[in-house]
Amino acid sequence: MSNQLFTPVRVGAFNLAHRVVLAPLTRMRSEMPGNVPGPAMVEYYEQRATPGALLIAEATFVSRQGNGGYGSPGIETDEQAAGWREVVKAVHAKGATIVLQLWHVGRVSHTSLQADGGVPVSPSAIDAGLFALLEGKPGPATPPRALKTGEITEIVEQYRAAAQRARAVGFDGIELHAANGYLIDQFLQDSSNKRTDRYGGSVENRARFLFEVLDEVRQVWSADRIGVRIGPSNSFNAMHDSDPEALFSYVAAGLRDRKIAYLHVIEPRVKGSAVINDHPPIAAANLKPIFVGPVIAAGGFNAKDAEAIVSEGKVDLVAFGRHFIANPDLPRRLREGVPLNPYDRDTFYYGGVTGYLDYPTSGELETAAVA
Ligand code: FNR
Repeated sequence: MSNQLFTPVRVGAFNLAHRVVLAPLTRMRSEMPGNVPGPAMVEYYEQRATPGALLIAEATFVSRQGNGGYGSPGIETDEQAAGWREVVKAVHAKGATIVLQLWHVGRVSHTSLQADGGVPVSPSAIDAGLFALLEGKPGPATPPRALKTGEITEIVEQYRAAAQRARAVGFDGIELHAANGYLIDQFLQDSSNKRTDRYGGSVENRARFLFEVLDEVRQVWSADRIGVRIGPSNSFNAMHDSDPEALFSYVAAGLRDRKIAYLHVIEPRVKGSAVINDHPPIAAANLKPIFVGPVIAAGGFNAKDAEAIVSEGKVDLVAFGRHFIANPDLPRRLREGVPLNPYDRDTFYYGGVTGYLDYPTSGELETAAVA
């Protein structure tokens, strides 16, 4: 079998040895209080770093207002930045490239996660019955208030400050999280955006926030070190758009014009299905002809279908989430056809070292078998 997944690829400013990417994964293991990346996070990323690989570090809030997970890291304070610096150092020592995913959750939050118990914000004051990752366990999100037009500029500024910190600590780039029903996605899709100002209504207006944020972080990073993640067919966090094809085609064209490093697309979760929860799929293959540059696909891939989508030229790279959680040496296993460790959902978000740092590599399994 030809193995296109393990051929080199250039993505913006990055020269990568292969196309198996660590998907951004919230693990809620930062040190509390303070949401600071500590030694456990350093070890976790170091375990998954290999020469020439691209790692996308987990969703990281640009401000406390944008925090939706107890134990999620931030990139707002000096302590958080110092923690990230150690992560980056460890990953670079292994020869990998690492970008930081910048996150503002908007309405997927709770007063207990906000500075001074504030009410979460969103384009519109819609209670979508969501859940936030509270201390100890998920719980109902606090219904949001609508952002005033002037406040939106302040959030754009928060992204700039976060981008600057990410650069100062040595990341190779950043990824904007515009998927999964968080703030940028809440602006994009019309089920969560009922605004009547210049940020609501038409596709152009709903995409304005994304492009304002992107244009702001481009003052800090060159475009070839910025990626954007979208989830056009995703109903997670109660998302829906009345015309996703028009919306995401417009978004992909705007991203192409700005010459960003890559477009990261979450594919529909169910394989081979034409329609998911009334969302026509706007999968990576459809967006690639519009975006033209490197596209990363994610969502439910295994070795075989990842190889297929890359060798058919529909996308350029594939990001793995759950398999990478359970298999720190995933690239090697995929390349050599080594069976994968199963993942344990119960330790995805909550807990300590168990389910975080203790998944064995294939080498460790061999040693155990001999002993
Ligand atoms: C995720 N996902 C996710 N996506 C994202 O953009 N930022 C994030 O921080 C997270 N966090 C996260 C945590 C956990 C525990 C899971 C399981 C998922 C989504 C993830 O990046 C990926 O798109 C999905 O997991 C689908 O890919 P797999 O798991 O089928 O390879």
